Order: sequence, then C-alpha cells, then structure tokens
Amino acid sequence: MMHFKNQVGPENRRLQTCSIVGIAAGSNWPKVGRALMDFSTQFNNYVAQTEKALGQLLPPATTRPARIHEAMRYSLQAGGKRLRPVLVQSAAALFPAPHHDPLPAAVAIECVHTYSLIHDDLPCMDNDDLRRGRPTAHKQFDEATALLAGDALLTYAFELLTRHYPTEPGFALVRELADAASSRRLIGGQMEDLLAEKKSDATADELEFIHLNKTAAMIEGALVLGGLTSSSTKSDLAALRAFGRELGLTFQIVDDILDATADSATLGKTAGKDAQAGKTTFVKLHGLEGARCFAREHTASALAALTTLPGDTAFLRQLVETMLVRNH
Ligand code: IPE
Ligand code: IPE
Ligand code: MG
Ligand code: MG
Ligand code: MG
Repeated sequence: MMHFKNQVGPENRRLQTCSIVGIAAGSNWPKVGRALMDFSTQFNNYVAQTEKALGQLLPPATTRPARIHEAMRYSLQAGGKRLRPVLVQSAAALFPAPHHDPLPAAVAIECVHTYSLIHDDLPCMDNDDLRRGRPTAHKQFDEATALLAGDALLTYAFELLTRHYPTEPGFALVRELADAASSRRLIGGQMEDLLAEKKSDATADELEFIHLNKTAAMIEGALVLGGLTSSSTKSDLAALRAFGRELGLTFQIVDDILDATADSATLGKTAGKDAQAGKTTFVKLHGLEGARCFAREHTASALAALTTLPGDTAFLRQLVETMLVRNH
C-alpha cells in the first residue's frame, strides 16, 4: 500500500472536510447487502450487447490498411468494464418507447473512451505498459500506430453517430459527445492532470476540475446520449447530467484509491503509477480514508440525484453502489 502525505492547504476548504456516514459507517468499504443477481444479469446483458455491437459496427480488421484496423480492434476488444455503453443503454431504458437503438451511441462513446485510454498510456502522457490486462497499444504495435488508432477511433465515433442517427437525434448526439470530449472537458481534464503532476501545492479546486473533466464528462455524456436516444425531456437530461457528475466523481476517486491500493493483475493496468508520477489525486490530497469518505459522499449525492429521474432506477442505484465497492 502506498502512503501519501496529506497536502490539504487552507485554500482547499471546500473539499477539505468529509463527514458522511450515511452510506456506510466506519472506515471499511460498504458491503452491498442485497442479492445482486438481477443487477448482474442485466449488467452482463448490456455488456454482451455492447460486445456484439462493437464486433459488428467496427471496420473489419482486414480493412486496408490492416495495421490501423487491427490496432483499433486490439484496444477496443480487450474487454474493459464497458461502463459508458452500459450507462447509455440503461439511461435509455428509463424512458418509455419509442426509442432509437442506443447501441450505436454506446459503441461511439466506447470508441472515444478507448481513444482517450490509448493516448493516456503513451510515453508522453502516463507512460503505461499495461491496459485492460494486455500490453498497451504502443507496446503491442508502436507509438505512431497507437497515436493513429486513437485518432481514428475518435473520428469513427462521429461517423457512427451520423450514419446511425441521420436525422433525429443525430445532431444532439454529435453535439453532446463533442462537448464531453472537448478541450473544455475530457481534454481539458487531461491537460490539467498533466500540469498538476509533481505539484506540491495543488488545490482541491484543481483536483475537482481534473476529475470533473477527465472522467465525469464522459460519464455524464454517456447518460445524456442514452436519454437522447429515447423520449427524455429537457429536465430529464439535466437530471441525468447531475447524476453523471456525482457518479463520475465517485468513479475517479475510486480509480485513485485503487491505483494506490490494488495490484496490477487485478486492475489490468499498472498499480502505483499515480504516486510514482506525482499525480494530484484524491489520495494524495486527502489520504486514503479522506478519499474513501469523499467517494461515499459523492455516492450519496448520486443516489439523491437518481430520485429526480423517471422510470425504474433500481439498476442505476445498484450500479452506483457497485462502482463504489469495485476492485478494478
Ligand atoms: C479508466 O476508465 C480511465 C478512467 C476514467 C478512470 P475505466 O476504469 O472505465 O476503464 P475500462 O474501460 O474499464 O478499461
Ligand atoms: C485518465 O485518468 C482518464 C482518461 C481520460 C483516460 P487516469 O490516467 O487515472 O486513468 P488510468 O488510471 O490510466 O486508467
Ligand atoms: Mg492519466
Ligand atoms: Mg493513466
Ligand atoms: Mg488512474
């Protein structure tokens, strides 16, 4: 287990205190108390639909030039939790028919997410060798191929949206995904993540910007894409966004905790990298217990946001609880 010095300064007051006890009292992770059979079956069902759609919707690996299409499929079809595609499908399912098929949108956002991972792992960024239990794209192929595979996946996501939703809701989907992946959101978060490396005086505000943008943006985006493929109203979309913000913050705090506490084999990516790189993380600023407390706090906020959504939110509620106690 890594140990970090708590570096909370006076300017960090807004995120400095965390006192929640509602999700799980005590210092241990909460236990999800009820049988999760229905939830797991539904989650696996969404993942299976995603895998099938990925296989069908991506260009065949033999498409010329085969090397780029092999690299795209190598990173995309390596597994991964498929959280964002699951969110697209489960958000769509909250609303009554008629629906557009959410699967092309689910595949599109997984393409953008996977591109962000390929680039995140490059030597000029986090310099990682392991991703989704396999050598990273630049290790398996080479840096130029990895860079191009990321570029191609990003562009392909928008091709998918325009091809599969040529009229409504295509424009709104393109706009939502472009915003989530933009220089103000995903890329902005990644930029500040790098700028904050080795910073000894990083503030809680900077940390919140990083997490909200490098991670929560795409989680919000996934939920909103799902809402847009179905019969959601403007206020439903706002509720999905508010929920995604809190789920996204929980998700990245847990990612930071796992980086400091889990092993590489379980994670499928190299553990201990954040401390090694001097990243500004929740664990670095607030310590492990502080980070766990904030994760529970954002989980409680996510669960509260869920109550403003229509339909049967049981699946999303269990998903939030599962993401808090995940081990990879
Ligand atoms: C990793 O995302 C990057 C973060 C935003 C923390 P995931 O943990 O969802 O990675 P995969 O898709 O399961 O591989
Ligand atoms: C990256 O955050 C989030 C992305 C936008 C890819 P991390 O750098 O913490 O993600 P991991 O831990 O490498 O998956
Ligand atoms: Mg990173
Ligand atoms: Mg990384
Ligand atoms: Mg990480």
